[in-house]
This record gives sequence, structure tokens and C-alpha cells, in this order.
Amino acid sequence: MKVLLALLLAFLTSFSQELIIYSGRGERLIKPVLDEFTRRTGIKVILHSGGTVELFNKIIAEGERTPADVFMTVDAGTLERARIAGILEPIKSEVVEKNIPKDFRAPDNSWIGLSLRLRVIAYNPQKVKPTEIRTFDDLTNPKWKGRLGIRTGSNIYPQSQIAMMIAERGEKETEKFLRAILANAGDKIYPSDSRIVEAIAKGEIDVGIVNHYYVYKHLEANPQDRKTLSFVVPPNTHYNVSGVGILKTSKKKDLALKLIEFLASEEGQRLFVEENWEYPVVPKVPIRQGMLPRDKFTLSKVPLSVMGRYMVPTLDLIDKVGYR
Ligand SMILES: [Fe+2]
Repeated sequence: MKVLLALLLAFLTSFSQELIIYSGRGERLIKPVLDEFTRRTGIKVILHSGGTVELFNKIIAEGERTPADVFMTVDAGTLERARIAGILEPIKSEVVEKNIPKDFRAPDNSWIGLSLRLRVIAYNPQKVKPTEIRTFDDLTNPKWKGRLGIRTGSNIYPQSQIAMMIAERGEKETEKFLRAILANAGDKIYPSDSRIVEAIAKGEIDVGIVNHYYVYKHLEANPQDRKTLSFVVPPNTHYNVSGVGILKTSKKKDLALKLIEFLASEEGQRLFVEENWEYPVVPKVPIRQGMLPRDKFTLSKVPLSVMGRYMVPTLDLIDKVGYR
């Protein structure tokens, strides 16, 4: 009987030492950091992977009964929507305050960014001079008709870029930009950023808008494509973070905080970005060799928390201009 009770207790304890993450970030990318966290703390992590927006909707639909403790996304806009919806618990942590720069977290620490990704212009150096594509606005020139590739409008990457642009220059100017870009792209709208860089490398198109790491990943796998694929970072470029928040309904906030503090630590940061060629948000953590140094680009002045406020007008605008 005693043995049974002990077993039961052990079972219950192990059960409570478990976190459920709803993750919009691919499993392959976060497995190394989560495995290391479990190895160090004994806290198990169960992953439910899916699209960032899809998982946000799932949490809202599940309400109080959501089993999720932690929400991880590839986008700060969705985290800001979650904060506004009141489902995130502000994180109180000295590690977070000390390590994560203010620009990369919510003003009340309801969510924090973990890795930085830049929106960039990928191009074929055999067909395009970098001086022709200094800014995103350069891509509105009709000379790019049939030569420009963009991502589907239903994706969070162009959506958050448009939201940041609305914050910078207003809806009217953003609409003009978007209509010109759509006219140039025509039917060259791709279901993934990796397909865009592939299309450039293969000579299908000459320029495209993508997250920077898709170029690095393509070149890592296909080093021979260096001649036909490169990228430029426009000044004050649009950017985003992959980030994380703790659900207010979680009964394991203490464990969730341990996870977040590990992700914000130097070791956690290194493991979090490594696979994906992103920039650690913690400035003292070195970047991967071969990446553009941090002092060689500048970011939009729009804070991510402000960008998040424009997510809904963005969806309306995308609808209005027929960007699918
Ligand atoms: Fe991505």
C-alpha cells in the first residue's frame, strides 16, 4: 500500500512539473532549448504547435479552460493582441528586466521578445543592383512588374510589416504602397518566405520581401546559390520578434516563469536563435558567424507594442485591397 501511495505521489508530482506551451514557433526550432530546460530543471514541456494566429484564436475560444500555460509566437503583434484581450499575466522578473531591452517587450511585461527578425529585400545580384532597392518604396516602381515576389496576405509576416508601416505613415500612404506592390507582384504571391528566396535563386523572380533568416537558411543548404541570392536591409527596417507570454489562467505560473527566465538567459538565448539565424534580443549574446553585424542595420522607430495596436486596421486594409 505504502509503495502504491509513493508511486501515486511521484506520479502526481511529475504531473505537476509539466508545462503546456501553445507554440507558433516550429517544433524543430525550439526543441534544443526546451530539452536543455527540462534537463536542468526536471520540468517537462508539452508542445502544441500551430499557426500563431490560429493558436491565439484557440486560446480565446477555450477561455478559462485553456490547458495552455505559455503562449509562444513568431510575432509581437499577436502577443500585443493577447495582452489587450487580457489573457496574459505581466511577468515580474529581474532577469527579464535586466536582460531584455525595453523595445522588445510589452511596457507592462505581459509579453517579451526572444529573437529578432528583420524584414529585408532579397534579390538576385546578377540581375539587380543593390542601389536599385535601397528602400521598400523602391519596389513600388513599375519596373519591378512581374519581377517581384511577395508572401500571401493571410500570413503574419506581411501583416505585421503593414501594421508597422501604418504606424509610421498612416493608412492612406500604406494603402498606396500596398496597391503598387500588389500590381508589381501580380500572381507572384508565394505561400512561404522560403519559396520566395528559392524563386529568386532559381531566376524565377528578381526581388522579394522576406524575413532575413530565410536567405541565410537557403544559402546554408545551397551555398552554390550565393551568385544569385543576396539581401539588403533598408534603413530603419521593419522588424519583429518571436516571443512569449504567460497565460493568466495558468496554474503553473511559477514554472512558466522559470522557463521564461531560462529563455532570457545567455545560454537560453544562444539555443533559441541558433537553428534559425535570428538575432538574440539580449545584446551581449553573440550572433552566428556569417550574419550581418548588429551595427550594420537600423530598426524602425515604431515600438513593437505600438505596431500591435495596428493589427486590426491592417487586416481591414488587406481585405480592402484584395491582398490574399
Ligand atoms: Fe519564419
